[in-house]
Formats: sequence, C-alpha cells, structure tokens
Amino acid sequence: MHRIAVVPGSFDPITLGHLDVIDRAATLFDELHVLVVHNPDKTALLPVAQRVALIERSIAEAGLPSNIKVMSWSVGLLVDYCTDVGAIALVKGVRSQVDVAYETPMAIVNRNLAGVETIFLLPDPAHAHVSSSLVRQVASLGGDVSPYVPKAVAEYLQTPTTNG
Ligand code: PNS
Repeated sequence: MHRIAVVPGSFDPITLGHLDVIDRAATLFDELHVLVVHNPDKTALLPVAQRVALIERSIAEAGLPSNIKVMSWSVGLLVDYCTDVGAIALVKGVRSQVDVAYETPMAIVNRNLAGVETIFLLPDPAHAHVSSSLVRQVASLGGDVSPYVPKAVAEYLQTPTTNG
C-alpha cells in the first residue's frame, strides 16, 4: 500500500519548526503533501504562490527526502483534498498542550467527516517557541528572524526591495 499523508497549514511563512515536522513525517509515509491552505478569514503576509516557492526552496536547501510534494488548496474541506489524492492521514506539529487542545476537535471532525486520521508529531524542543505569527511580527518590526526560519525565508523577508 502506498501511504500518503498531508501536512496542512498556512505556512505564512514556513518556520524551522514546520520544516522539522515535515522532515519527520516524510520518513513515516511513502508520499507527503505539504499543503498550503488559503484561509480567506486571515490576512496573509505572503501570497500563496510565494509560500509554496519558499517551502520548495527550504526543503531543497535542507536536503529533505524526495517523497515530499508542495501543493496549495483554497476550496472546500481539507478532508476533500485528502480524499482526492488518497491521503490516509493529516500530520500536525504540536508544540504544547495549547496546540493539542486547539487541534483535537478538528482532528475528531476530520475523522468523522472522511475517516482521515490526524497524527500529532512533537517537534524538536528547540523550536517549541517558534510560530509564523511571531516571525511575521519580528520581521515587520525590522528584527532578525534568521534563528527561526529557513535561510530562503530569512533572505526573502529581509530583502524588501525584491518583495514587491
Ligand atoms: O497554519 P495554520 O493557520 O494553523 O493552519 C490551519 C489549517 C489550514 C490547518 C486549518 O485552518 C484547517 O484545517 N483548515 C481547513 C478547513 C476545514 O476543512 N475545516 C473543517 C474541519 S476542521
């Protein structure tokens, strides 16, 4: 059986914590889709296409396994994407009990909707405090985000003249 899993998220932008979870998940499944989900209720820093490009560069630069695909999704339920591609599981990184409490209802609803299981992975504790929202805030105030994000993202965020 060819086992496919999906790591969904806004990835606005991808952080080192995300990259760690993607790396761990890629070793557990035959194929892993990193899915950039467009959330119309959130004001995004980066356009979806830019987020996809930065994830692809970050994965390549970190030498992550070749069974990872980077995709985007903007219409309908997340589990509809899983059904369309034949994915059996969602993978989420959980940094704390707060994340577990937030993710648990969604995991149960997704299982009830389509039989898609959610697997929680613990990232390296070194990344436990890192979030995309923190990165966006530090970057917007001119701070150094390089300890928290892949090199490609740090370069992108700190080169405003090329960012439109
Ligand atoms: O990186 P984020 O912003 O925490 O990612 C949140 C995301 C995209 C995983 C979450 O918003 C989500 O699961 N969206 C899909 C919408 C959906 O299918 N909802 C119904 C079942 S929970």
